[in-house]
Amino acid sequence: GKSGYDHYMLKEIHEQPRALRQAISGRIDDLGTEVELDVGLPEEYLHSLEEIQIIACGTSYHAGLYAKELLETHADIRVTVHIASEYEFTGDRDPWRTLVLAITQSGETADTLSALREANRAGARSLALTNTLGSTVTREVDDTIFIRAGPEIGVAATKTFVSQVATATLLTVHLGMIRGSLTGQTVDALLNSIQDLPGAVQQILDQESTIKRAAQQYADSDAFFYIGRQAGYPVAIESALKLKEIAYDHAEGFPAGELKHGPLALVTPDTPVIALLTAGTNAEKTQHNITEVASRGAPTIGLTGSPDVDPDLDLTFEIPECGLMEPVAANVALQLFAYHVANEKERPIDKPRNLAKSVTVE
Ligand code: F6R
Repeated sequence: GKSGYDHYMLKEIHEQPRALRQAISGRIDDLGTEVELDVGLPEEYLHSLEEIQIIACGTSYHAGLYAKELLETHADIRVTVHIASEYEFTGDRDPWRTLVLAITQSGETADTLSALREANRAGARSLALTNTLGSTVTREVDDTIFIRAGPEIGVAATKTFVSQVATATLLTVHLGMIRGSLTGQTVDALLNSIQDLPGAVQQILDQESTIKRAAQQYADSDAFFYIGRQAGYPVAIESALKLKEIAYDHAEGFPAGELKHGPLALVTPDTPVIALLTAGTNAEKTQHNITEVASRGAPTIGLTGSPDVDPDLDLTFEIPECGLMEPVAANVALQLFAYHVANEKERPIDKPRNLAKSVTVE
């Protein structure tokens, strides 16, 4: 059941600290200095890997974009991220040195399975990141890493997104250590940030009433724009998707720097602009974009660790310190924001019109 919550989505949002602890459990050694992730692919292979091609849809694709940021920076490996329905295998010089990483909560998404089959036929190795034991994807890859988020009933993916990113971070440290691309200091920083994440998420959940008030204040807006850089970008587009799905409002995420190349024309006093300004998002540059939209009269909300960061912000949602996981923590605040906008409009949050939890047709 919904354990007293009005919707499964809200219950699942609140389950995130626990889901994250499960994702991490037993996968970091007692000293907190090493990852113990059971990846069946031989170390030699992971060492000589040339490229990772991530294939995924929807929210899982956004987790893939986040994973790319982490893997390219810390595991010294080229990563391309593909919307599964657009994927064509291209690593044909030495397909064996290409690892295809299928990210899929359900393990049953037809577009993702079809892309995976193409890569398998071409001779690539494959790995699944999924939430679902015994799912189709697990039978068609060389190995699987489970995100252990527990069942997700709400159509909108919430806890599975944060668990995908946390698990991808562990994979990044695992690969980085095998490939010799990580210093002890960076390993510490990454592992500390993952271990700090469940507590940080709890602190965000404790601010729900503030976020709810903001959602009620802006629920009648013409559209919602989300901007971010680096790891803030996948969070921006993921947060926009959440709002579209459950509130049926127009919402878009943009790389903050792209605003001035077109979308700025859409900005009015009736389009709130929500900016990712945490660690790992090149926040200083994004502040210029806030100034630009504020001068056009747009309401502005910033997700930041330092509430006084920008005088142009109308509102801030405070994000507790957790290093490179801060954008993920910010995502939780924006799940709550989307939820409360949708709830204010009395939408059927757990079963949005036209959508299914698992999309098994191409
Ligand atoms: C969004 C959402 C969808 C799924 C997408 C992929 O809230 O739930 O965008 O993320 O259909 O599903 P999986 O991860 O099961 O492959």
